[in-house]
Amino acid sequence: MATPHIAAEPEDFAPAVLMPGDPRRAQRIAKTLMDDARLVTDVRGMLGFTGTVDGRPLSVMGSGMGQPSFTIYATELFSQFGVERIIRVGTAGGISPKVKVGDVIVATGAHTDSSMNQLRIPGVNFSAVADFQLARAAHDASQAGRAGTGGTVHLGTVISRDHFYFTPKGQTEALATHGVLGVEMEAAALYGVAAEYGKQALAVLTISDHLLDHSGDMSATERETRFADSLRLAVAAALS
Ligand code: HPA
Repeated sequence: MATPHIAAEPEDFAPAVLMPGDPRRAQRIAKTLMDDARLVTDVRGMLGFTGTVDGRPLSVMGSGMGQPSFTIYATELFSQFGVERIIRVGTAGGISPKVKVGDVIVATGAHTDSSMNQLRIPGVNFSAVADFQLARAAHDASQAGRAGTGGTVHLGTVISRDHFYFTPKGQTEALATHGVLGVEMEAAALYGVAAEYGKQALAVLTISDHLLDHSGDMSATERETRFADSLRLAVAAALS
């Protein structure tokens, strides 16, 4: 039973799906975590894999970039493929001075400048929040020393912006004074779709650059290594 964007059967997906933006990263994650990963969908090159980790079923699928793309895949996975939890794994730009390149954000909430959640309930500024159980599982995994030798793990809010290259003057500084940890482009949409379907969602993000301090930006190689830290937390949440 294919949907417009996923050519698979419901039993092809595990109850938990990790979702990086890049489908090639989904493939690398599947190969890193699983010996038995099999390709379950490749519509538009958006690769999805299912296998087992420690004997537990897990899927990994690309989401594409931005809230519309994420919303399409999350909606189909939750509504048609029996998926119960989605954990976004990706990168974010640092905003708060507390956050350094290589640190990890467990995004407990996501502000947004997008209209996607604004349209959900007329007259309401929807609060896009993570599932508490998943956030706690990721946090517990970081406390248990499973986050490797990388940076600090922060719990707090991010901003999910629609523009990558355009930012209203002063907005980043104002977000920093309101304790916002970082910027990415998908979490608010994921949390909105999860709320709509009564499912669980979390975003675990590696800081790849800092918008207000460019001194410590990461190389491509460092990005991959540090990404492993956040992946460990995401897997712990997915299988919790
Ligand atoms: N903006 C949006 N998304 C991002 C950024 C950014 O600066 N850095 C990493 N992901």
